[in-house]
Amino acid sequence: MKALILAGGRGTRLRPLTYTTAKQLIPVANKPIINFVLEQVSSAGIKDIGIIISPETGSHIKEALGDGSRWGAVISYILQENPAGLAHAVITARNFLGNSSFLMFLGDNLIQGGVGALVREFSAGRSDSIIQLKKVRDPRQFGVAVLGSRQEVLRLVEKPQEPLSDLALVGIYLFNPAIHAAIDKIKPSWRGELEITDAIQQMVDSGRRVEARLLEGWWLDTGKKDDILEANRVVLDEYAVRRVGGSVDAASEISGRVDIASGAVITNSVIRGPVVIGENAAVINSFVGPYTAIGKGTILEKVGVEHSVVLENCRLSGVERIEDSLIGGNTRVNHADAGRHACRLFVGDDTEITL
Ligand code: G1P
Repeated sequence: MKALILAGGRGTRLRPLTYTTAKQLIPVANKPIINFVLEQVSSAGIKDIGIIISPETGSHIKEALGDGSRWGAVISYILQENPAGLAHAVITARNFLGNSSFLMFLGDNLIQGGVGALVREFSAGRSDSIIQLKKVRDPRQFGVAVLGSRQEVLRLVEKPQEPLSDLALVGIYLFNPAIHAAIDKIKPSWRGELEITDAIQQMVDSGRRVEARLLEGWWLDTGKKDDILEANRVVLDEYAVRRVGGSVDAASEISGRVDIASGAVITNSVIRGPVVIGENAAVINSFVGPYTAIGKGTILEKVGVEHSVVLENCRLSGVERIEDSLIGGNTRVNHADAGRHACRLFVGDDTEITL
């Protein structure tokens, strides 16, 4: 069994962060989302991993993940020249996949509990594909499945205008090599992409055995700003531990699951977990509230921050309350001198500011 992780795409909905990094590398709880994906794939016992990269962000992904030895795996990078769809990504990876069955995992998705049980079940069973589904409130932004009375897959539609069911396709699929012939039969969709959803429908239509599994736990799809904040909240809730590697002075108060990395310094501040604070960060005369991740080397001075992700090497000072914010690396947010009420901004393209 191999794995194919998709880490291409342009990440346009996460600009400006994606001008300098790939969306799959944006950290939640101070760890890139794709690292969680690699952990889940590797702990399911799959060590032969292909990663689809794009010309825009491929070098960032390669640099961040290396040869895969950190996860006891071997990573092959596969360049997809243009984002022509998930089924197109599988075509691009044919040399790598050969005649293997494989797990396909979208690199900006994550599910509770990992994929071990799913992979075991697929390996032991006789189906041609297993798709993972999750009940969602608004299925129109996803691929959607209609099941029969015995939970068999009847129909799959990509981004339906009229929701046919509330079961979305989670970005996690298992296939045997029969998927390749199915892909060869499909045409690009209305959005100009070769959709994996259509290829799975093709398998169903030609009598192949496609099974569905319903996910009870959480599913994170981190394509937009609020998704990242939600992912940060969920991941901190599940994984944060209390660990104080840095230094905390006597005037500070730390409560709950707060993970302070080595070299970080907390001075005269209140921190309420779950929170992670990266290496060599400094928190001075500040309040850091629940569901916040502070990146490496970031300095907070006289700041209140809560339910936010602040990336590396930022400097935030004199801002009473920052909430629901996603702040890219090397950003500065300052408070104006007394008496100056105007906002003075120097921001990059595609930035969003709410005052
Ligand atoms: C893709 C799939 C869709 C699936 C979704 C999950 O959508 O095409 O079926 O529900 O991922 O994240 P895309 O991200 O390409 O819009």
